[in-house]
Amino acid sequence: MFLRSVKLLSEKMPNMREYPFSIPSIRRLDQLNFHEPVTFFVGENGSGKSTLLEAIAHQCGFNSGGGGRNNSYEFEDATPALSEYIRLSWMPKVNQGFFLRAESFFHFASHLDQLAKEDPTFNYEGYGGKSLHEQSHGESFLSLFVNRFGERSIYLLDEPEAALSPARQLAFLRVIHDLSRRGDAQFIIATHSPILLGYPGAQIYNFDTSPIEEIAYEETEHYQITIGFLNRRERFLNELFREDEEE
Ligand SMILES: Nc1ncnc2c1ncn2[C@@H]1O[C@H](COP(=O)(O)OP(=O)(O)OP(=O)(O)O)[C@@H](O)[C@H]1O
Ligand SMILES: [Mg+2]
Repeated sequence: MFLRSVKLLSEKMPNMREYPFSIPSIRRLDQLNFHEPVTFFVGENGSGKSTLLEAIAHQCGFNSGGGGRNNSYEFEDATPALSEYIRLSWMPKVNQGFFLRAESFFHFASHLDQLAKEDPTFNYEGYGGKSLHEQSHGESFLSLFVNRFGERSIYLLDEPEAALSPARQLAFLRVIHDLSRRGDAQFIIATHSPILLGYPGAQIYNFDTSPIEEIAYEETEHYQITIGFLNRRERFLNELFREDEEE
């Protein structure tokens, strides 16, 4: 574990009605402590998960479009709005790592192709040996995790499940397990996946409450809706569609 906490510098806070302080979870952030190698951010769409993750990534020196310290490339949204209002506490500080947003993965793949064009010795080492564009979305995602992850690093991932089939999500849990057990890695992951969230011993922060609170796996909506749906699909759907039929 490397990153111990993120603190909101409330004395610096400007207009509370504007983004990012218009988001309830961010406005009352105060301090989040990380005490497990794997932390998840959960919450409804728009609850502020990416906003905080991007700010942390920026403070780590990672490009906000995704990538590590050595992967600086143009991305329209250069400085995340929240990053100057937070402070990170490290013990010990690590510089290695990666920030990955599923939505900007395409840009990252193109960036690597550009590097390869400029430098004939660039051989996609650490990225599965060939252009990420020539691998399927899920394959390239997983080759990134398997090949590149390894040193003492912090990985900030925004909805990694977007690229992964359920079977590959399990494979990804295995990657997390192997790296975090060796003490090599810390993960902070924003997710909607009930599979990823099930990682044993992970800390889960719920962005639907203000301030943000820790929540047990079984208490998350992701778990409850999924299990309700899978166990009693027919009843669940009847319930869901009922109003329409009555109208
Ligand atoms: N650059 C921006 N300027 C203004 N508002 C923004 C900006 N980025 C995000 N927002 C707003 O802030 C809120 C939180 O967005 P954020 O992307 O952090 O949510 P999220 O929890 O990651 O959601 P999701 O699960 O859909 O990814 C949203 O209402 C969004 O519209
Ligand atoms: Mg998001």
